[in-house]
Amino acid sequence: MAFFSRNKEENHSADLSDIQLPVHVGIIMDGNGRWAKRRGLPRKAGHSEGAKTFRKITRYCSEVGIKYLTVYAFSTENWKRPQDEVNSLMKLFKSYLEEALSDFKDDDIIVKFIGDKSHFTEDLQQLMIENEGSSKNRSGMVLNIAMNYGSRDEIVRAVKNICADVKQGKISDSDINESLISNYLYTAGQPDPDLIIRPSGEYRISNFMLWQAAYTEFVIMNKLWPDFQKSDLDEALRIYSHRSRRYGGV
Ligand code: FPP
Repeated sequence: MAFFSRNKEENHSADLSDIQLPVHVGIIMDGNGRWAKRRGLPRKAGHSEGAKTFRKITRYCSEVGIKYLTVYAFSTENWKRPQDEVNSLMKLFKSYLEEALSDFKDDDIIVKFIGDKSHFTEDLQQLMIENEGSSKNRSGMVLNIAMNYGSRDEIVRAVKNICADVKQGKISDSDINESLISNYLYTAGQPDPDLIIRPSGEYRISNFMLWQAAYTEFVIMNKLWPDFQKSDLDEALRIYSHRSRRYGGV
């Protein structure tokens, strides 16, 4: 289908066998609006192009051996955008989720949503649940799509659930430690991201995985998300592989 048609990068392949790959990569897919503005197009054209890039890079991450990929698709703050832009993003999510149901089968990708689903329309929520259900027994890369996700909101939700479980006697306050808190987040059971990539040159975390990113390496790239290529991912992975991670030690 044309919406997600593969482009000229179809045959790109890089030899990454000599480098230490991150297990979990996060991507803040930024720059769609600026990409459209530079071409005199409406912002929604940038999101459409961003969706193609998302599809291409997701598949490529799975091909090169990334085990977990988390993409920031829609934040708790993005509802403040003009209604027309929000509507076009919802339309995009819907088409994507309809296609992903059958399409990610061949790529062996496990789809999960992180964020509060309850704000989306019934049909979108249903598609999210179906995608999670039909992909859960696959064995390939885990793709977390952050939708209506905000890390502060995630932490508030975790704190409330911990309090409720203490009140009901399921856990005691002496059980509360870092690993327990991690297990009350949307990413429970998953490793923290090793690398977060932010295209579009902005040096901000924008409420993305605040707890999980305590020791994450950041790579900021000067490319708008719709222009992001597989070779840009290769570059980010190579930059990551040269970082010395000390986790506060020496
Ligand atoms: C940030 O760029 C991007 C978003 C708020 C939307 C991200 C969504 C996609 C890439 C669509 C694909 C996702 C799925 C799951 C199909 P911006 O609009 O803030 O750009 P700007 O900073 O240049 O204005």
